[in-house]
Amino acid sequence: MSGSARRHLLAIEGMQPPEILSLLDLAENYALLNRSGKTQRDLLRGRTLINLFFEDSTRTRTSFELAGKRLGADVINMAVATSSVNKGETLLDTAATLNAMHCDLLVVRHGQSGAPSLLARKVDAAVINAGDGTHEHPTQALLDALTIRRRKGRIAGLTVAICGDIAHSRVARSNIHLLGALGARVRVIGPPTLIPAEIGRLGVEVFHDMAAGLAGADAVMALRLQTERMVRGLVPSAREYFRFWGLDADKLAAARPDALVMHPGPMNRGVEIDSAIADDPARSVIKEQVEMGVAVRMAVLDTLAWSARRHAA
Ligand code: CP
Repeated sequence: MSGSARRHLLAIEGMQPPEILSLLDLAENYALLNRSGKTQRDLLRGRTLINLFFEDSTRTRTSFELAGKRLGADVINMAVATSSVNKGETLLDTAATLNAMHCDLLVVRHGQSGAPSLLARKVDAAVINAGDGTHEHPTQALLDALTIRRRKGRIAGLTVAICGDIAHSRVARSNIHLLGALGARVRVIGPPTLIPAEIGRLGVEVFHDMAAGLAGADAVMALRLQTERMVRGLVPSAREYFRFWGLDADKLAAARPDALVMHPGPMNRGVEIDSAIADDPARSVIKEQVEMGVAVRMAVLDTLAWSARRHAA
């Protein structure tokens, strides 16, 4: 999306449909390029991308690394666990240190909502939010939308059901903003303890019954129970949770016969999703979500690097 003046990618909230669609179109091109086995190593040659992850990650960190390398950037994965953060260095001092090394793109995951926004005000690099607390995970929503659009040909008019731990999910929040902006109907389904009372203000329909919430859905996203962010007592045992809220063939039967099964990962099999559904190639697009993650992150890096050049000029 050459021409965008966006400096950072901190949230989906507030992004307008043309900007989202432009990113999806560019990501679609990168998905095709990746499948062809080609790279575009001139685009970010001489630029430095630093992955700064204060929380664990497999998909997001690896795909940003791959995306940066496929575009020719020098990619550094900062090992937070063995960094001077352990000697008491603050987030801001850590970022200022990386900034002094003239990093161009800073990909940040942090347990505190708003941490990437704070950094964006302090560093020269373009900051990309790779997931902050319970706030947002913008590139996850972009890759989810790209996956849906490739399979269904559109987003507008589709009914997408997001199931489970809505309260602690930055994935849910980014998806609600993005899918709503592109004209999808979004439902959230889960126990009352895991659905924030104010979520209806984001324009979603709220269900506490899987059969009712999944009825006629075109895509179903199961979410991981984020036990690391929970106070005790929000859910019964994992077995009970699966019985009422776990996505299995019986519950999925309420959705459209061609409904997509999605999960951002990592999955807790037998808790929020049954293996038979997660691994069903006729229904599950979970592996395609991962593949689209690389393409989306290439599109985001491409876009922000172009914008950074403009800001520097
Ligand atoms: N979906 C997602 O953010 O996965 P990781 O935690 O593995 O990056």
